[in-house]
Amino acid sequence: MVGVLFVCLGNICRSPMAEGVFRHAVDQAGLDDRVTIDSAGTGPWHVGKPPDERGRATMARNGIDISGQRARQVAPDDFTAFRYILAMDRDNLDTLHRAAPKTHRDRVRLFLDFAANDGVTDVPDPYYGGPEGFEAVYALVEDAAAGLLRQIRKNDL
Ligand code: 4NP
Repeated sequence: MVGVLFVCLGNICRSPMAEGVFRHAVDQAGLDDRVTIDSAGTGPWHVGKPPDERGRATMARNGIDISGQRARQVAPDDFTAFRYILAMDRDNLDTLHRAAPKTHRDRVRLFLDFAANDGVTDVPDPYYGGPEGFEAVYALVEDAAAGLLRQIRKNDL
């Protein structure tokens, strides 16, 4: 099994969408029994809550239901349980790098490292903006999810 953990700040906007898009791609590829997928936040504020309704709406328009997800905070065990710990932006990357044991630091990467559109490093936080921010998140996440799946097929399966 290969574990993939998507991480943002609140675990209610970006990383739940990344989890949903990547799970959909893995299911479509018939690899759901080979890849474990989850998401978490570096912050504690929204623990137990479902994804933001604007993100749920964007995902539903694309045929993906993420309403069953519940926010949780990153835990120490995550650094050993997951092979890929993918930060949505550089702030969260820094937080994860500080929290990771030295031996597992290379598991922590930027999610957009896997995107075809290089030069963009951060999935912008859509929390305080309008619905268009969630559409932008979807486009970035879809691109990077495809690249991540290619990489995992090549290196880990
Ligand atoms: P996320 O978005 O990190 O993509 O889940 C945010 C959600 C909540 C907050 C910040 C970002 N907040 O400050 O409560």
